[in-house]
Amino acid sequence: MDRQTIRIAPEDIARQGEFCEKIHERLASLPAQPLAFVDTYGCQQNEADSERIRGYLGSMGYGFTDSEEDADVIVINTCAIREHAEDRVLGNVGALVHAKRRHPGQIICLCGCMAQEPQVAEKIRQSYRHVDLLFGPHALWKFPELLYRVLTRRGRVFENTDEPGSIAEGIPVVRQNGVKAWVSIMYGCNNFCSYCIVPYVRGRERSRKPEDVLAEVEELARAGYRDITLLGQNVNSYGKDLGLDMDFADLLEAVNAIPGDFLIRFMTSHPKDASQKLFETMARCEKVAPVFHLPFQAGSDRVLKAMNRVYDRAGYLDKVRRLREQVPDVVITSDVIVGFPGETTEEFEETLSLIEEVRFDALFTFIYSPRAGTPAAGMDDPMPAAEKHANFDRLVAAQNAISAEKHAAYVGKTLRCLVDAAGDDPRYPLAARTPGNRLVRLADGAADLVGTYQNVEITGANTWSLFGKLAPAGTRGK
Ligand code: 5AD
Ligand code: SF4
Repeated sequence: MDRQTIRIAPEDIARQGEFCEKIHERLASLPAQPLAFVDTYGCQQNEADSERIRGYLGSMGYGFTDSEEDADVIVINTCAIREHAEDRVLGNVGALVHAKRRHPGQIICLCGCMAQEPQVAEKIRQSYRHVDLLFGPHALWKFPELLYRVLTRRGRVFENTDEPGSIAEGIPVVRQNGVKAWVSIMYGCNNFCSYCIVPYVRGRERSRKPEDVLAEVEELARAGYRDITLLGQNVNSYGKDLGLDMDFADLLEAVNAIPGDFLIRFMTSHPKDASQKLFETMARCEKVAPVFHLPFQAGSDRVLKAMNRVYDRAGYLDKVRRLREQVPDVVITSDVIVGFPGETTEEFEETLSLIEEVRFDALFTFIYSPRAGTPAAGMDDPMPAAEKHANFDRLVAAQNAISAEKHAAYVGKTLRCLVDAAGDDPRYPLAARTPGNRLVRLADGAADLVGTYQNVEITGANTWSLFGKLAPAGTRGK
């Protein structure tokens, strides 16, 4: 049952390849290789989309830079989830007018979730006239054609028509990192949580075919990637639109069967669809990392109902209990919103008591931000901002204490960790991840260890990270 999903035909993707070729030919006459800067805001889905945009730009012949000044093409991939994120993007896009003045012929593109919002597109059209190309997530697959139009017509191009959403296979990818990779397994969301803009800008849920997902993971495993994250707004409803006899747990099992020494993670899970079958599958699959991101959003049943989350507090706690029963050492992280319209201080206290009860390893905390067009934006919101901020600060302090305690319990243990990056501080030359994805800052080790698993002795901890050193050879990690 393919409902409204549009599957972009391979011929159409091949045509985009032809546009890449045409651009390549135009650029070949330039004295130096032109450069592109892709700036990404927001979630991992956007990171994954940016890797495709880089893939296209690479096939057009662009090199890459992180400098706005040097770039011939700037692509800003935006996030619409909160107003603050949007304001930051608009501020940065506004400032690009100076870069463009110093670099005539520079092309500025704005894409991602903000570009899909009609009022943002209008604002860009009217007030940000230095933006040459705007396209929403639905149009990403035809970026080469759109850029070609800008290059050849010298007019502005806006492409953000509303549609249920499409799936395009075969777009080239330039990955940012040789150790960790994102694999989108589905796009869009059907849940319409009352505060959330995502279903409006990313369309309805649609799953990639299992064979396409598996082929991509096989290729990544062959290329030596060590940490593969399956991505979707709600991965637990994977496959429901395909009409196949395969759900997310089955897909996870199939990915686990792919040969190679890699870890599998996934996000995000909606509690309503996190099934006992999934927990059991996780427990059985040795490559699936013992980590689960399970947003709860609020601790009060009344607020959960107003959010349209379709589970209650007891139901959420029951899922956590069953998950821990199956995967005892699982690291659980979550998202929570403070200050949803009409949330009282008593209701907020229920959020506090929920985090004390669950004791998450880490929590992503957000203050409610009204999003135009969502039901919550029209709800009464009497609590003053200062009170919301005070509640927010209490929540963060409570979680920080829990995170610090949880991290302290690692000290003295030796764990098999994936060294995944160089450190950002000379005292800690390497960064590694525990199986549950906690950050370990390593006090020793050379850069050639990046991409390897090492036994690491945890020597210290704070709220945000663990500290460790390489364990002597022969030490066994857990
Ligand atoms: N205001 C604040 N936080 C939000 N989130 C989603 N929409 C909003 C909003 N309007 C949070 C949710 C979600 C996370 C990605 O962002 O907690 O899980
Ligand atoms: Fe937004 Fe809810 Fe969908 Fe998550 S599940 S993307 S919060 S609507």
